[in-house]
Amino acid sequence: MAKDSMFDLTGTRALVTGGSAGIGLGMARGLAKAGADVALWGRNPDRLASAEAELAEHGGKVVTQSVDVADENAVAEAVAATADELGGFDTLVVNAGIGAGVAKFVDSSTETYRKVLATNLDGAYFTLREAAKVLLAQGTGGSVIVTSSLGAVQGAARNQAYAMTKAGVLALANGCAVEFARDGIRVNSVLPGWIATDMTEGLQSWESFTDNVISRVPLGRWGTPEDFEGIAVYLASDASRFQTGSSTVIDGGYSIF
Ligand SMILES: NC(=O)c1ccc[n+]([C@@H]2O[C@H](COP(=O)([O-])OP(=O)(O)OC[C@H]3O[C@@H](n4cnc5c(N)ncnc54)[C@H](OP(=O)(O)O)[C@@H]3O)[C@@H](O)[C@H]2O)c1
Repeated sequence: MAKDSMFDLTGTRALVTGGSAGIGLGMARGLAKAGADVALWGRNPDRLASAEAELAEHGGKVVTQSVDVADENAVAEAVAATADELGGFDTLVVNAGIGAGVAKFVDSSTETYRKVLATNLDGAYFTLREAAKVLLAQGTGGSVIVTSSLGAVQGAARNQAYAMTKAGVLALANGCAVEFARDGIRVNSVLPGWIATDMTEGLQSWESFTDNVISRVPLGRWGTPEDFEGIAVYLASDASRFQTGSSTVIDGGYSIF
């Protein structure tokens, strides 16, 4: 990438939660290709190691942390360790998340509800709060990217608990966008549609889902992790310098059809 490009991230550092797979790995790959050093968070050390090996090919520094974002103390420790290893960070991608499966609302369980809230909502809250302390202390601004979902704004039948968490992170992002604007820290959300990752593995092999849902995607296919490389670079870079509190839908046109 040309040095004078407004998309050049050389010399910047990014922390990506859920960076070992799926959409988070796609975003991390985009950031690494644009020249950023990256820290990947996830729970499974093997997946982290293979993502680290892949991203290292782009030439920047890549570090990993095995951390459960639902664990408040672990998040605080991992933020400190990551800031130490990268010498601070400029971009934060709050992306780690799990699905909740599908169940008729009246049959949905409190156990699943608590589990999905713990990772998707508590995890985003702990991560953003602890990482914001580092960004504010650095005093050099920054960019925060929060992965929400179309489920935050569209009716998610049989998936209400998951959708609640995604609406919650949108509210978290917007509140932080206003509060941190004076510190030069921008906070923007990304709302993916139907993306082929481990999270949607069951749906991908479900013929009637493909026939009834994916066939309605105007761009005619499942989204892929690679489709998130560009939006991460754009939101992390100077190209989006006057953009904060925004929500970018990446769904192949599904929501407007
Ligand atoms: N796929 C879609 O269609 C879709 C649509 C809208 C929004 N999203 C959102 O996009 C984000 C990424 O989802 P994805 O589809 O890429 O899923 P994925 O392929 O299953 O990847 C999830 C990532 O999050 C990590 N993770 C999960 N729980 C964690 C925890 N408690 N602590 C730390 N890391 C954790 C996973 O690593 P470990 O399992 O090793 O921890 C993995 O790196 C999620 O927030 C999801 O809600 C996805």
